[in-house]
Amino acid sequence: MRDALSAAAVSTQAEDVHPNTSKQASLHIAPVRIDIENLFLSFAATQVLKGINLSIEPGEFFAFLGPSGSGKSTLLRAIAGFGPTPEGRILLDGEDIGERRPWQRDVGMVFQSYALWPHMSVAKNVAYGLEERHVPRAEIKIRVAAALELVGMGEYAARYPSQLSGGQQQRIALARTLAVEPRVLLLDEPLSNLDAGLRVQMRQEILQLQRRLGITTIFVTHDQEEANSICDRIAVIADGVIQQIGRPAEIYDNPANEFVARFLGTANIIPGRTERSAGGLMFVADGEGLRLPLAEDVREGRGNLVIRPQGIDVVDAPGQHMIDGEVVSGEFLGSATRYSINVKGFTLFVDVKHIRGRSDFRSGDSVMLSIPPEQVMFLAS
Ligand SMILES: Nc1ncnc2c1ncn2[C@@H]1O[C@H](COP(=O)(O)OP(=O)(O)O)[C@@H](O)[C@H]1O
Ligand SMILES: [Mg+2]
Repeated sequence: MRDALSAAAVSTQAEDVHPNTSKQASLHIAPVRIDIENLFLSFAATQVLKGINLSIEPGEFFAFLGPSGSGKSTLLRAIAGFGPTPEGRILLDGEDIGERRPWQRDVGMVFQSYALWPHMSVAKNVAYGLEERHVPRAEIKIRVAAALELVGMGEYAARYPSQLSGGQQQRIALARTLAVEPRVLLLDEPLSNLDAGLRVQMRQEILQLQRRLGITTIFVTHDQEEANSICDRIAVIADGVIQQIGRPAEIYDNPANEFVARFLGTANIIPGRTERSAGGLMFVADGEGLRLPLAEDVREGRGNLVIRPQGIDVVDAPGQHMIDGEVVSGEFLGSATRYSINVKGFTLFVDVKHIRGRSDFRSGDSVMLSIPPEQVMFLAS
């Protein structure tokens, strides 16, 4: 397994140095633009997609991110042409593909379960879609070899799926999808059957593959770290509605609403309102005890204050934007300790970077916190 993985890594590097190898020349994939307009979809009486609008640039690596049951797979399958016919339009390079059967869409999909044929060799599995499309035999041979090389599995053509590890099966599923030279690559939670270490490695491999081919790709996941680490842009989906679209750090730093703020990582969320005072714009938490300065560019009114745990500092000398707190508990995370700290009746998560050998705070300790206005978001309701 290790050998196969490092062999794949080496072949990737070699191709980066020599971008015009014959392997690459034999899969031809032109990046296309995807536009989805006003898509609604129901299963019987249940509406699952509620007006989806989005545009994906040619060659972009795009994520659908959301909790289980939010409609990600349904949306992906609608693009591939599976499931009930939706209302609205799906365009590839401006052309409406909504009326086309799945195999007429030039869209390749990799399923979570891999869906390899157990009784066929690796080569046969990869050739399958090409044979169905009546591609000439000589061309099939070239493309199967090219696709297997691409995923670092050139040596495994004669094996059977049962003789491969999960990660290898995932690569074969990718090779099979890419061999038909789809215009779009759709990946539905492709890493969720792999163990944690392999997941991290495979996501980088998928990214490199996507970059080398330049294929427009949609990656579905419920794991925000996975989407953040490899995707150009993310559409956060909840309950069949797109909550926000943007680059990972953009969404993390400027969530459009409370759902996105929480889904993208731990967030302190405090209800209250803004207030003009002599010192500038302030946030006043419900209950009145907690007041924090705000940046001037926020929309005023009632709403929620959002602060990431790493946006609050524990300080040992008094200064600007100080507030007293009392440690309730701490959770050691390795790189940081995440404390729960009581501040005027609110329990806030505060991350303190862990330095080797440094002793931790204990529950009951009094601490001084600094909450700079630029670390604070105000989401007006
Ligand atoms: N074939 C189906 N028949 C009825 N309801 C379905 C079907 N497929 C999905 N759903 C429902 O649609 C909703 C979205 O499902 P899905 O798109 O699979 O979510 P996700 O991929 O985000 O986990 C869920 O509530 C699910 O129960
Ligand atoms: Mg799903």
